[in-house]
Amino acid sequence: MRNLAAKDLYFVAVKMFLRRKNTLLIIKDVFGDWDLPGGRIRTNEFATPLNKIIERKAREELGLTIRYTLGQAIVFMRHERRERSLHKPVRIFAIGFAAHWTKGEVRLSSTHSEFLWVPLSSLRPQQYFTGGWLKGVEEYLRLTRKPADMDRAQAISIINQHIQNPNLKKHLLAAEAVMRRLAEHFGENADEWALTGLLHDVDWEKTKDNFPEHTLMAERILTEAGLAPHIVKAIKVHNWHHGIAPETLLEKTLFCVEELTGLITAAALVQPSKKLADVSVESVLKKFKEKSFAKGVNRDIIAKAPDMIGLSLEAVTRLSLEAMRSISPELGL
Ligand SMILES: [Fe+2]
Repeated sequence: MRNLAAKDLYFVAVKMFLRRKNTLLIIKDVFGDWDLPGGRIRTNEFATPLNKIIERKAREELGLTIRYTLGQAIVFMRHERRERSLHKPVRIFAIGFAAHWTKGEVRLSSTHSEFLWVPLSSLRPQQYFTGGWLKGVEEYLRLTRKPADMDRAQAISIINQHIQNPNLKKHLLAAEAVMRRLAEHFGENADEWALTGLLHDVDWEKTKDNFPEHTLMAERILTEAGLAPHIVKAIKVHNWHHGIAPETLLEKTLFCVEELTGLITAAALVQPSKKLADVSVESVLKKFKEKSFAKGVNRDIIAKAPDMIGLSLEAVTRLSLEAMRSISPELGL
């Protein structure tokens, strides 16, 4: 019989690329090696969902207060390391998940001696990592620094080709501002997120009476115009009718916040002044509960924000209101 243990054994691990604003968390083990949070799957975890295993590792390595939104598996790594206890190298196949810090502080356990939130802009992976971890972190940086392939002037010109209604254009400007503000909050690429908000309903005028077609037409228009596929996809999945679960933080954020701009606009229009300056976070949250107010606004989608992007309704409303106020003149509110 073949000796599997000696010949073909790989450890399987789950790793986390944990982002906080524009930084990435790396941790140093007691042997002095830098690593990503996460680790090997135990034999008794064969049936455990991977996100639960990551939760366990995060609790063990980063302490009990840390909270994050888990994204999708984005990088697969094969790393060989010398195992001190076995006195021989072991091979690890690791699945790297994107994750975004939401709250809490890192409290290392006794297996790690140091942690760093390294700014992504200045991160030189070879300074910390070797082998498969190095390749993995390089791949992560490559993936998260994707260009949008379109500038704002081009986006505005596409919008003008497809939209006449001035209120719809204002909705797009509001979504642009809100997405920019949230990107800043999460430490994501603000220009790219703003562009996603700006273009998200480019086909609405032509599809508003045919909801199943909404964003499919946008997908065609924007793909043809050369917009980066990850932005096109975020726009496509924001129409919940398609039933495609949003995966990336960009997709999730657009999905649950763009409806909120409608509620904030309606909350301004019932003020005597009709100004955003007179709208408070509390008043928007109150209107959120009044189902008869601005009936067209889909509350169920907005209510997913805490789960999907780790922001309370209060926080997401505050950031969105702030963002919309910053362009009051353009919105006429
Ligand atoms: Fe929209």
